[in-house]
Amino acid sequence: MRYLLSLFIVLSLAAVTMAGYRETFEREFLSKPWAGGPIVEKSACIECHTSDIMKPAFRAIPDEWQGSWHALNGVSCNDCHGGDPKDASMSMSHVRGFVGKPKYEGVPAYCGKCHIGILKNYLESGHGKALKATKKGPNCVTCHGSHGIQRATIDIINEQLCTKCHSYERAKVMKQALFLTEKKMGEIEKDLKALKSEGIFTGDDEKTLFSTQAEFRALFHTVDVSLVKDRTDEFTKRLEGIEKNVQKTFAELKVRKNFSAFLTLIFAGLAVVVAMLSATYKD
Ligand code: HEC
Ligand code: HEC
Ligand code: HEC
Ligand code: HEC
Ligand code: HEC
Repeated sequence: MRYLLSLFIVLSLAAVTMAGYRETFEREFLSKPWAGGPIVEKSACIECHTSDIMKPAFRAIPDEWQGSWHALNGVSCNDCHGGDPKDASMSMSHVRGFVGKPKYEGVPAYCGKCHIGILKNYLESGHGKALKATKKGPNCVTCHGSHGIQRATIDIINEQLCTKCHSYERAKVMKQALFLTEKKMGEIEKDLKALKSEGIFTGDDEKTLFSTQAEFRALFHTVDVSLVKDRTDEFTKRLEGIEKNVQKTFAELKVRKNFSAFLTLIFAGLAVVVAMLSATYKD
């Protein structure tokens, strides 16, 4: 009887611990966007464009694309250029929707078919208007590149790039206007990651952060410093909402950890007592 009791206690202790692990595992691994991995379907575009018949000037393009944020998210050659990646003989045919390489002033619409909100802000901006009027404004590729595109940060705003066409002064005030909000978003992102690695579900806060981030970064494309400043309060408020939730969750986590340490102690104590009792009976 005593042995059964101590076996029961040890087993239930193990069950409690296991349940925690399974939850953690599910949240950590099964919900990750990379659970399926990046899409690496066979593509006639890539096969031919990396082969010997390709002219050297173009040969590095697939490699450059491979390392991009687009490749990681399954956006391939034909998603931008059109055409048929499954049929080598027809892949660059207009019949299969191939549109080829865009003209300098055609780039915003080319990228904007997917990045709709950004295109809208860009077209209304000094940059978009200058592109339309004189073809002198920067297009998306001027700032982001075309094949090796990485996640965007305010580091794109730098002296070398932004002084190609005008003084750095106006670029710098823009960067200053963005800086504090970007910093806060970075901190919250880090905290959410830390919570996630503790097995805490952060989906709702993550969603709010993601949409706030997307909207804020689209705002840059207006290159309108006073508009960015005007809207900063509103973004700060939204971010403070998420921050509050995060702090609360951290506090709860601490209580939970203390409580489970307490439970473990109790169980261990009980197990010792039971073991001692059964030993006493044997004697
Ligand atoms: C995100 C959209 C996008 C993706 C994905 C993309 N391209 Fe492009 N590509 C462009 C744009 C925009 C240009 C024109 C601007 C430039 O020259 O950089 C271009 C230009 C080119 C050119 C002409 C280069 C030149 O110097 O004239 C080739 C060739 C090309 N792409 C092949 C590819 C191949 C092959 C892939 C897949 C491995 C690919 N592209 C994926 C957007 C894309
Ligand atoms: C059988 C070989 C082959 C296949 C398959 C192929 N390409 Fe090309 N592609 C070429 C060659 C060769 C050139 C260079 C033409 C030149 O000399 O300017 C080229 C040029 C290009 C250019 C730049 C010139 C332009 O018209 O805009 C783009 C963009 C491009 N390819 C995209 C693609 C995409 C997207 C696919 C798949 C849907 C694809 N290619 C499939 C051989 C191929
Ligand atoms: C077929 C749709 C499509 C086209 C066309 C496209 N993109 Fe994207 N782009 C995506 C997707 C999907 C992502 C990944 C999800 C995300 O990060 O928003 C992405 C991500 C990005 C990012 C990184 C966003 C981040 O989180 O920091 C940049 C920058 C970007 N694209 C710029 C461009 C530019 C410039 C062009 C044109 C040369 C272009 N895109 C064309 C679909 C597209
Ligand atoms: C290819 C040329 C070019 C590049 C590169 C460029 N700009 Fe501009 N920029 C322009 C033009 C053209 C205008 C509008 C005409 C003017 O006001 O001079 C402009 C205007 C601006 C304005 C004022 C907008 C307004 O409404 O008053 C800001 C701010 C600005 N750019 C920021 C930047 C930043 C930040 C970068 C670097 C990330 C940059 N620009 C890179 C060409 C460029
Ligand atoms: C003058 C330079 C410049 C031009 C032109 C430009 N961008 Fe950006 N883009 C940036 C900078 C800088 C950021 C990052 C802003 C931030 O972090 O607040 C950014 C951010 C982005 C993002 C990331 C948004 C997110 O949710 O994280 C995407 C996508 C993007 N740009 C696409 C485009 C497209 C499409 C075009 C053309 C219609 C374009 N950009 C034109 C400089 C530029």
